[in-house]
Amino acid sequence: MPKSSAPKIVLGITGSIAAVKAAELVRLMQKKGWDVWVVLTACATQYIGPLPLRVLTGHPVPCGTFVDAPPETFLHLDLADQAAAMVVAPCSAQTLARLAHGFADDMLTATALALEAPLLIAPAMNTRMWRHPAVQDNVERLCQRGARIILPASGELACGDSGPGRLADLPDILCAIDDALTAG
Ligand SMILES: Cc1cc2nc3c(=O)[nH]c(=O)nc-3n(C[C@H](O)[C@H](O)[C@H](O)COP(=O)(O)O)c2cc1C
Repeated sequence: MPKSSAPKIVLGITGSIAAVKAAELVRLMQKKGWDVWVVLTACATQYIGPLPLRVLTGHPVPCGTFVDAPPETFLHLDLADQAAAMVVAPCSAQTLARLAHGFADDMLTATALALEAPLLIAPAMNTRMWRHPAVQDNVERLCQRGARIILPASGELACGDSGPGRLADLPDILCAIDDALTAG
């Protein structure tokens, strides 16, 4: 990974419909002066392709587990080492569960597991999913382990329901990252 003085922020994007907001989030993060590195789950590629994110960030965008890079490259370890913070936005119920239980079955979760910098998680899902005790247990478990949860907003959802579950407003995500960087 090339060295730069700008704080590196790893942005993990998962298979939530809110992934369509990711390009705008990247742009706003860059305006803050952060060097953004994106990691996509395999499922996220159904909602947003790696190409625009690669063009926007100027960095390769690993998807799923394997990276098109020399075999001696341990990108998940490099990303985790150099990140000033990692934010998973949007975070699906599925990835929330994998993070809560320490899975490392793709680039995103492996990076999060190797991370010593702050981990921020912005869940986005249907209201009934968000309220499910399994999801709330996972949120609690992650909080207890020091992860910062950026709570979902309430309002109309893509599925037509209304209630909590919308991805937090992008300025709120930026504020949470700012706070995490300031807190060190
Ligand atoms: C149209 C559609 C929209 C979806 N939106 C969400 C969502 O907003 N949040 C969520 O947790 N899951 C959502 N899902 C389900 C996830 O895509 C699914 O759980 C997937 O396995 C997540 O994988 P990932 O976390 O590895 O990206 C959606 C599925 C479909 C078909």
